[in-house]
Amino acid sequence: MNAMAHSVQSLHTRIAGTGSYLPPRRLSNADLAAQLAQQGIETSDDWIVERTGIRARHFVDDGVVCSDLAEQAARRAMEAAGVGPQDIDLLIVATSTPDMVFPSTAAILQGKLGITHGAPAFDVQAVCSGFVYALTVADSLIRTGTARRALVIGAEVFSRILDFKDRTTCVLFGDGAGAVVLEASEKPGILSTDLHADGRHVGILCTPGTVSGGQVLGDPTLKMDGQAVFKMAVKVLEEAARAALDKAGATDADIDFLIPHQANIRIMQSTARKLKLGEDRVIVTVDQHGNTSAASIPLALDTAVRDGRIQRGHRLMLEGVGGGFTWGAVYLVY
Ligand code: UT7
Repeated sequence: MNAMAHSVQSLHTRIAGTGSYLPPRRLSNADLAAQLAQQGIETSDDWIVERTGIRARHFVDDGVVCSDLAEQAARRAMEAAGVGPQDIDLLIVATSTPDMVFPSTAAILQGKLGITHGAPAFDVQAVCSGFVYALTVADSLIRTGTARRALVIGAEVFSRILDFKDRTTCVLFGDGAGAVVLEASEKPGILSTDLHADGRHVGILCTPGTVSGGQVLGDPTLKMDGQAVFKMAVKVLEEAARAALDKAGATDADIDFLIPHQANIRIMQSTARKLKLGEDRVIVTVDQHGNTSAASIPLALDTAVRDGRIQRGHRLMLEGVGGGFTWGAVYLVY
């Protein structure tokens, strides 16, 4: 930490590097449909593609945990930023599928990365909005001079909480991780953020199990009222984008790329239409990754940075939405 940071006025937060990681085991829709058919569950590539845009997802093998995926993504982001473990003074992991009840996945990851100088490390739990929540927290801590350089990671092993007898949910999700290194900067960076939650809607997307007396109580698999979530998502993604643009004094025309949470191509297309953005301005990875919850936005960001679509100076709108109900946007100059 740098004491000078406290005296810097109008400090900004910029992305210094991105990274991501997918576990090697890839299942196409046909692979998954064949696996489900063995248990008498009927689905098809046609249904999944038509309703969601998903064509494949990646699942971890037995014994691989959230912090393993996070570690790979974090190492790639640090390499892209040209920094090492000694340079990181804040570590935040957004996840709903942590390694353990406690300690946090961030603390476990800190040990794996060899960050040994006492930098704070904690998890943020906002389900599929987790990455925009974590980015916003890190941005605040950097702008107040509390941290100079942060690792912010979205990492999930949703395959562990899926009910493979429920075809309405198990075909939708995948595992993966994405990361960014953020750093204090004289120039933006993050231009505005907008976060929300509405706890009246806990029941439309939840994993209601818990641990008590050494036993799992309740059902520890994911439950979703897909149509209710769909309607909420379409509504709040437009509102959050507009709120973030307003705060930055910008308009729809000031978005070069939209990077929404990757849950369903139809939700993404609807948001893009409302913001008057052509298809080529939306980063889509849901087709190859499925819904990776808090990992989906940084996975999509890193994909488009590495394939050259996103360049320095582009204005990006990152948007999350999910269980809680939670939603939010981060508008930034890359
Ligand atoms: O990550 C947080 C954000 N999550 C989301 O944004 C998810 C939002 N919701 C959605 O993406 C969509 O609602 C779903 C993809 C989950 C479902 O699509 P839908 O167009 O709303 O389908 P539906 O639930 O209305 O189901 C239509 C039909 C039903 O059959 P009937 O009742 O019409 O005979 C389902 O039983 O599709 C059936 N169905 C399936 N058929 C084949 C449901 N799942 C499957 C399946 N394979 N996997």
